Amino acid sequence: MKVLVIGGGAREHALCRSLSLDPDVTALHCAPGNAGIAEVAELHPVDALDGSAVTALAQELGAELVVVGPEAPLVAGVADAVREAGIPCFGPSGEAAQLEGSKAFAKDVMAAAGVPTARSYVCTTPEEVDTALDGFGPPYVVKDDGLAAGKGVVVTEDLETARQHGHACDRVVIEEFLDGPEVSLFAITDGSTVLPLTPAQDFKRALDGDEGPNTGGMGAYSPLPWADPKLVDEVLETVLQPTVDELRRRGTPFSGLLYAGLAITSRGVRVIEFNARFGDPETQVVLARLRTPLAGVLLRAANGTLDAQAPLTWRDEAAVTVVVASHNYPGTPRTGDPIEGLDEVAAQDAPHAYVLHAGTKRSGDAVVSAGGRVLSVTATGADLTEARERAYAAVGRIGLDGSQHRTDIAAKAAAGH
Ligand code: AMP
Ligand code: GLY
Repeated sequence: MKVLVIGGGAREHALCRSLSLDPDVTALHCAPGNAGIAEVAELHPVDALDGSAVTALAQELGAELVVVGPEAPLVAGVADAVREAGIPCFGPSGEAAQLEGSKAFAKDVMAAAGVPTARSYVCTTPEEVDTALDGFGPPYVVKDDGLAAGKGVVVTEDLETARQHGHACDRVVIEEFLDGPEVSLFAITDGSTVLPLTPAQDFKRALDGDEGPNTGGMGAYSPLPWADPKLVDEVLETVLQPTVDELRRRGTPFSGLLYAGLAITSRGVRVIEFNARFGDPETQVVLARLRTPLAGVLLRAANGTLDAQAPLTWRDEAAVTVVVASHNYPGTPRTGDPIEGLDEVAAQDAPHAYVLHAGTKRSGDAVVSAGGRVLSVTATGADLTEARERAYAAVGRIGLDGSQHRTDIAAKAAAGH
């Protein structure tokens, strides 16, 4: 199978790594990719947001499956363009991707499908914002309606901070604060059949101890030793299947990856958000544990034949990933700094630990930083303690001036808390 992956983050590197290990994959291409993906796939300098350019590339390559990684091309309808040309595509239509593209749309779908989520108001004027904030009280949760790379959400005890963010957005969702640990559960779906993957936990805040601003995600681990073993079945029944059924009922079936961001509250599981694509960095740990070859599963989702898929199998190992981010991330990051130590990790830590590239590019002989999240150092081990040790040993070999990473990824879970 000839596969083309669209995107260029650590999630796409993880996807390409898994696809490159799949014996059914005969050729692997990626656009635009990054310096790390170049080691497992052939790169093409195509604008991921341009549906006709992506389709033309897929045709030229004779791609038999296109996998669209990030949300922006999905919301822009890139998967629609590829499918219209008759090429199987893993990723929802632009309309179905509104599940991620508009928080107000997601709330509407959840209400119609009876999916448990935070009570919320959609506000378009400063007066509505103030009334909603007063109604809920602190902590305040204020979400920009549109796509914001995980950075449009403000959760704060401070009314003035909440008002400022609410007033700065054209359309904003203000909702009830959900207490309790967060879980990311992904499911592969063809629009009818829903196949949940293994749960993971992401670390959204920039600093240790869940301090600092929200980010796209600073690390992740899987499995979750503290979670109820029935969690996946419960979320399939109460969240994933009803959502997929509701979108099909509306005439906009969702095929691709449905990502449920969940809070495990004292009153039960609640959806915090949906995404229409694999999460980053959770994908790095989920795919590290997936034993079933990936390409056939994605192709069945794209073809509408997921009901014929054998149950997925998982490695009995734990996985941890630690994101190394640029100076000043999640503010405007500093880029262009050389990255040292990549060869040392490859020589000393493989195959248990490896570097997945996010914002990197080649500059002469060097690999330099080119984005906010630069690398995702991923490791597996017999348990979370071993996976953590291996991940942090590899992180310690990476040199990137001014870089930052959290030191507490999976620490509590490894210690049994
Ligand atoms: P989102 O982009 O909707 O996932 O929000 C980003 C992060 O903000 C989430 O992962 C949570 O940590 C936090 N958050 C969002 N909504 C809520 C909520 N209703 N209650 C508590 N925290 C929230
Ligand atoms: N890790 C959060 C996300 O991918 O949105």
